[in-house]
Amino acid sequence: SYRAYEDHDYLFKLVLIGDSGVGKSNLLTRFSKNEFSLQSKPTIGVEFATRNIHVNNKIIKAQILIWISLILLHLRIWQERYVLLSIHFFQYRAITNAYYRGALGALLVYDVTRHVTFESIKKWLKELRNHTDDDIVVMLVGNKSDLRHLRAVSTEDGKAFAENENIYFMETSALESLNVENAFAEVLTQIY
Ligand code: GTP
Repeated sequence: SYRAYEDHDYLFKLVLIGDSGVGKSNLLTRFSKNEFSLQSKPTIGVEFATRNIHVNNKIIKAQILIWISLILLHLRIWQERYVLLSIHFFQYRAITNAYYRGALGALLVYDVTRHVTFESIKKWLKELRNHTDDDIVVMLVGNKSDLRHLRAVSTEDGKAFAENENIYFMETSALESLNVENAFAEVLTQIY
């Protein structure tokens, strides 16, 4: 059959969102290539990777995208310049819609060592809810759990927030390869 020419049974689109520097790129490369980089290169344009995983004897292809953080950065810089902001707003909407279109799962990432990134989660979740179907599988991810001495957000606070919003929760470390596989696999399994 036609299916025989494909390398997967299902194709699920996932999006990775969260503030700049929380570790989205590294979670993506850890999951897709088992690689990690200590250098921080801000994402420019859309970062994209795929990986196949097995669930119940089926092959699921995960197509994962990262949001263009530069555009958000520009929005932040121009917050007070309403004229410029309104021009950008239309481009921003168009790209945002394209980015979220067809997404079945989302990983909402914050950095456990920077509380502001946890506070931003509300904003990210709102944007996600505005652009996706109600049944999208969402996982809250507290990344950099390896930096124990620098922790600024407790596991309990992450868990409580997730329970309150009715989404999944996991703490990960892209550096130590802790729970990264589990976080993606859980989202993909829940979609399936
Ligand atoms: P933008 O592209 O700017 O949106 O950032 P990002 O969210 O993709 O973050 P990125 O993956 O570039 O990581 C930012 C920095 O955090 C880099 O210096 C990484 O090496 C570091 N980092 C990412 N994940 C971890 C982790 O689990 N533990 C530690 N200790 N550092 C991490």
